[in-house]
This record gives sequence, C-alpha cells and structure tokens, in this order.
Amino acid sequence: MIVEELKLINQRNYKELQLQFHPKLNVIVGENAQGKTNILEAIYVGAIGKSFRTNKDQEMIKMLKENAYIKVKVRKITDKVEIEILLSKEVNKKIKINKVPLIKYGDLLGNLNVVLFSPEDLKIIKEGPNERRRFINNDISQISPKYYYTLTQYNKILQQRNKLLKNYKGNKINIEIWNEQLTNQGASLMIYRRNFIKRIAILAKLMHRKITEGSESLEVQYESNVKVKDDEELKDIKVNFLKKLKELQDVEIRRGLTLVGPHRDDLIFKINGLEVKNFGSQGQQRTSVLSLKLAELELMKGEVGEYPILLLDDVMSELDAKRQNYLIHNLKNIQTFITTTNIEPLNINNDKEYTLFEVVNGEISIISPKK
Ligand SMILES: Nc1ncnc2c1ncn2[C@@H]1O[C@H](COP(=O)(O)OP(=O)(O)OP(=O)(O)O)[C@@H](O)[C@H]1O
Ligand SMILES: [Mg+2]
Repeated sequence: MIVEELKLINQRNYKELQLQFHPKLNVIVGENAQGKTNILEAIYVGAIGKSFRTNKDQEMIKMLKENAYIKVKVRKITDKVEIEILLSKEVNKKIKINKVPLIKYGDLLGNLNVVLFSPEDLKIIKEGPNERRRFINNDISQISPKYYYTLTQYNKILQQRNKLLKNYKGNKINIEIWNEQLTNQGASLMIYRRNFIKRIAILAKLMHRKITEGSESLEVQYESNVKVKDDEELKDIKVNFLKKLKELQDVEIRRGLTLVGPHRDDLIFKINGLEVKNFGSQGQQRTSVLSLKLAELELMKGEVGEYPILLLDDVMSELDAKRQNYLIHNLKNIQTFITTTNIEPLNINNDKEYTLFEVVNGEISIISPKK
C-alpha cells in the first residue's frame, strides 16, 4: 500500500500542510526540532489511531489551538482509502473512513498498515516485558482487529478481578466467575500470540541470518506463565490457565492481584544461544530489532496481501553502512519514509526514485526532484 497524500491542520508545529508522497522513497531532512518526526507521527496516527510518542491525543494539537486534523490518502492494490482524524481538546477524537464516521475505534485498524522503526524500539530488547507486550499487541491488532477487541475485553475483566481480589471478603464463588471470563479471553489472546510469535520468529531468523551473512542465529521465543505448547488448542490452554489460577489462588488473594495470564507474557531474544538483553553488544541489539522490523514487513505482507508502509525515524545514523544500504536498496517494493538530520551518509544521490523534503520550523519544501 502507498500513502499518496497527507494533509494536516494544527498538528504539532504544522499550521497547515499538504504533501504528495513518492510511491517508493521519501526522505525528510532537517535540523533537530523542526518537525520531521511530527510527519511520521501523523501518518502513524492515520494507521493506528494513536501516537507512538504519547498517550495524550491533546499533545498533538498545536499550542493555543482547539482542534487538529489529519487526513491520509492511501492507495491499495484494489481500492483507495481516505482516513480522517479530528482531534479535539473538548471531546474524544473522531475518525472517518471514506467520509463515513467510525463507531468503533478498532474499525480503523487494517485500513493502513505501518511498520515503524525508531531508536525507541531498542526498548523492545533492553527494557521490561511491558515494551515487548506493547510490540506484540500493536502488531497483532493491525493484522487482526478481533485481537484488539479481545485484548480490550481481557483488560477490563482483569481490572475487575483485581478489584475483587483487593477487596476480598471470603467469597470464592465470585472469583471463580471472573476466572471463567478471564480464561476465556486470555486463552484466545495466548493462541493469537503463540501463532504470531512462531511466524515472526521464523522470519526474523531469516532476516538476521541475511544481514549478518550467516554468522548469527536469532531466536525469538514466547514466554508465558501458562502452558501454551505448539499443539495445544484453545480449550487446552483455558484448562491450563484455570489450573494455574487455582494453584495460585491463595497467593493472589494475599497480594490482591492477578498473577497469572497473558498480561504477564514476555518474549525472549537470543543470538547464538545467548540472551541478547544481557549478552548482546549494542550492534547486536540494534540488528536484532532491525531483523524484527523486517520480519514484521514480511509477516504483514503475508497476512494482508500487500506490504505495509515503513517509517524509519532517525534510525539511519545508528546503523552501519551495510545495514543502511540494505534498507534503502532492498526494500524497493515497500514505500519508505526516512527522517534524518544528514542525508549524505544515505548515499541516495544516484537513485532518482525518491522525493527529498526539507523541514524548517514546520514549513516543508521539496528539494528534489526540482520542479
Ligand atoms: N503541540 C505542539 N504545538 C506546537 N509545536 C509543537 C507541539 N508539539 C511539538 N511541537 C514542536 O515540534 C517540534 C519538534 O518536532 P519533531 O519532533 O518532529 O522534530 P524533529 O525534526 O523530528 O527533531 P529531531 O531531529 O530532534 O528528532 C519542536 O519545535 C516542538 O516545539
Ligand atoms: Mg525526530
């Protein structure tokens, strides 16, 4: 798929902006704090409905303004989609697809698929399991909106169950009612995750082998405190989950907290058998994330039938020349957006198939191709 056009009104430091993009490569250059990431953020919001930088939609509204408007025009193999998002300080955001207002936010997902790679993504490897769950959730939601709805349900049930555990008054029947609901939704989440991780692991291993010219083998493993083996079906996982809840019931009551379930899931990354988080070099950690991102592209292609778009925010300078080259020259069928403070190392001068934008303080001009 291709983002053909972006229109912004009062988003971040943009007063009004309308851009036509190149179907292959778009490079956005500018000094720090000029508005490069803001462009990628707006496209991302068009795909996911929320920012990758903040949970507060209001922060994206230009200072002293009441509303912000984002319009993204997408061309797919068989159709065109126009996504409009209106952010407001007063009311919840409003989303329209082809001029029709959405009733459920989840219905936005799948209209535009994106893979974002930013320096923040190193957190997937280096930081706590929250970051890895966020990665899994965002990705599966893009492919299966049904997963997103199940996740929302699960989180609501989890909250209720935690509340009950915290204010426990000796009535085990009540907990059991919640156990039933928690394991219904939870087992479904775990099946989605197991299948997703199995597939992304294979693709990431292939990508990693390619980038490291065969010298490193990357493994990605799903870790859950409920038994979720390869051959287990939904009903088996639910039984395992219930059993674990029973085992831990007294501890949970004492702690006032649900200790088992997909909200505690994690991912493990290993290179040549050693955990990347603890033993990987900086370069290996970056390459692992790069392999993971490239795997996401292929996985989405497989699921959706066409490639998503790729947003590379400020990551080029962190990669060596070989990896930079790989990104620019091997992803010809994927519309790519790159932000950078310096285009020279990108070495794209001989490559005519791109548009180069320059941003200065919320004003964008096209440097190349010249009009
Ligand atoms: N709500 C807002 N209203 C007005 N301006 C904003 C708002 N939010 C952010 N900005 C401005 O946007 C600019 C930052 O934009 P952005 O993050 O896109 O920069 P960048 O070009 O990616 O910089 P860097 O190279 O440092 O990553 C800053 O000048 C900031 O003050
Ligand atoms: Mg930036």
